[in-house]
Amino acid sequence: MTASPRKNYREAVPGRANVADTPERDAYYDALERKEMGALWTVANKIEPWHPVPQSVPMIWRWSDVRPAILRAPELVSPEEAGRRVIMLVNPGRREVSAAVGLLYSGIQIMAPGEVATSHKHMASALRFIMEGTGAYTIVDGERMTLGINDFVLTPNGTWHEHGVDASGSTCIWQDGLDIPLMNALDANFYTVHPDLQQKTNQPTDSSVRLYGAGFVQPAYLRHAWTKPYSPLLKFEWAPTYDALVQAARVSDGSPYDGIIMEYVNPITGGPVMQTIGASMQLLRPGEHTKAHRHTGSFVYRVAKGQGYSVIDGQRLDWRERDIFVVPSWSVHEHANLADRDDACLFTFNDLPVMQALGLYAEQAYPDNGGHQTVVSRA
Ligand SMILES: [Fe+2]
Ligand SMILES: [Fe+2]
Repeated sequence: MTASPRKNYREAVPGRANVADTPERDAYYDALERKEMGALWTVANKIEPWHPVPQSVPMIWRWSDVRPAILRAPELVSPEEAGRRVIMLVNPGRREVSAAVGLLYSGIQIMAPGEVATSHKHMASALRFIMEGTGAYTIVDGERMTLGINDFVLTPNGTWHEHGVDASGSTCIWQDGLDIPLMNALDANFYTVHPDLQQKTNQPTDSSVRLYGAGFVQPAYLRHAWTKPYSPLLKFEWAPTYDALVQAARVSDGSPYDGIIMEYVNPITGGPVMQTIGASMQLLRPGEHTKAHRHTGSFVYRVAKGQGYSVIDGQRLDWRERDIFVVPSWSVHEHANLADRDDACLFTFNDLPVMQALGLYAEQAYPDNGGHQTVVSRA
């Protein structure tokens, strides 16, 4: 077997590695390799790029492709066999880690009326965003939550959770978001199946929404009782979220880069809902076209309402309701609502809490062309 030629990443820039190959150096590199060592200067420019170079590429998964694909799954596989009957959204640049973008996983799950998934917990933090159907519920740490379209539900890491659909409901489809690839990159993942396969509820249905869901008032008598590192409010319903966006749009111009954007927050701390995954909902007014910018952090977008397009690193992705697209870290992006009369809403989940906690957040406006990119391709 012949060894593949060694790559030498040279840059003719002061301060960067620029070492020419010679037979003598090649022999030295070979000797190092035989002892599982290597010369940093041959790869330094690659492993320490000038700026983030994500392996993820901009992607869109259209509902018109996803829906028929996920509807086929119940004809082929039972939930008992599969554990979770899910179609993954796989970024071509991140296939080896099953990521939709960066170190974030996303999948589309389907459950038929009367189906119940086994209770489990894992080190990955998880969320679901409900797309279709009636009668779906999730139980998280003993709390049963009913799930409606565009509701956003947390299953924080370490919490027992399970999903099901009432026998009186209809086939339900939702989007899962987890940081499985991050947990695996850190070699920190665990997965446990509940010893009884199902957990028992220990509080009334939707109790966290009743306790913490009002937003501007919070139960003072519980302020110091909640010590867990995630939001005590586990479900964020669509109707009050949309109302908050609409009310804000009446009195505020919002961000030039994101329009009216609201972050889902832990009502106790005001911080992100979970330690490793953040989420937000943004509203683009009729005809609104945001300015382009880029920042660190990987983002999965789900179109909650409306139609428009986003331009990501020069590629235009046209989207409509229920489509999912991703923005890789440090990719220049801007969003446009194509409708003259209707607003458009984009749900996102992201790894910003990780970026911010580790001091890795960086942001830059796109300076050229009035803040808009030139479209070079369309998907
Ligand atoms: Fe799970
Ligand atoms: Fe952004």
